[in-house]
Amino acid sequence: MIYITGDTHNTEDMSNLSTKNMKLCCMEQNADFHAITAAIVLGDFGFPWSSDCTVDESGIHPVDHTDRYLLKWYNQKPFKILAVMGNHDNYDIIEKLPEIEMFGAKVLKVSDNVYYLKRGEVYYIEEKRILVLGGAMSDDKVWRKPHESWWEQEEWGEGEKKSCFAKIKENNKFDFVLSHTGPSAGIALADDFFSNEENLKQLHRDSNVVFNDKIESSISYKKWFFGHWHSDWGYEHYNESKYIPLYHQGIVIRTDNTAENNF
Ligand SMILES: [Fe+2]
Repeated sequence: MIYITGDTHNTEDMSNLSTKNMKLCCMEQNADFHAITAAIVLGDFGFPWSSDCTVDESGIHPVDHTDRYLLKWYNQKPFKILAVMGNHDNYDIIEKLPEIEMFGAKVLKVSDNVYYLKRGEVYYIEEKRILVLGGAMSDDKVWRKPHESWWEQEEWGEGEKKSCFAKIKENNKFDFVLSHTGPSAGIALADDFFSNEENLKQLHRDSNVVFNDKIESSISYKKWFFGHWHSDWGYEHYNESKYIPLYHQGIVIRTDNTAENNF
């Protein structure tokens, strides 16, 4: 069983992955917490945050005490933690992580229990075919410091986009799409401000939204999960919407396909 939740922001919203919060969400969906094999964070995992950290084939070795603490906490979880890349993520460290084979493609190893999912990759997790995107433009980047609290890699490079489209060309049918910011139609549901056509255009200042929209028009899928907008609209409207923005709440995906009727 897969559990999907929103941005955890290092320790700030780590409670998304607390046993208490996850058990409550499982209970609402008549699911067994102990059946979770993987918990997915939809970007802004923010871990590790500090660049004061070495990386080798076993993963990260943080010096920063908060990152050290989080590493221990995540390693004790009885399921794997898989992170989509967001905007508040340390791409300088992510780029150094060792690649290993998992779920039919390459993942980036943070530790034995924690992995980043690569952008533009297709994974098979619990028999679901999943397209992973990621990234978003930071609105507040002028107040942030490059390579310390902001990373330009938050927006995709042209090469990455090309290879993602090439993958989709081979087979464009997916069960789920996971991203950080959403496609614009989904964002309009997460944030009322964008329900107006004029305001919606502003979203296209973010090249990641433009890219997500292009991807959306090239594929078929059942549900598109995304974070970034800090909205749990998708949790409340799971059954009737194909766009599922999430923040603190978690959606359970069962292998037996009963997930289509979670609540
Ligand atoms: Fe966030």
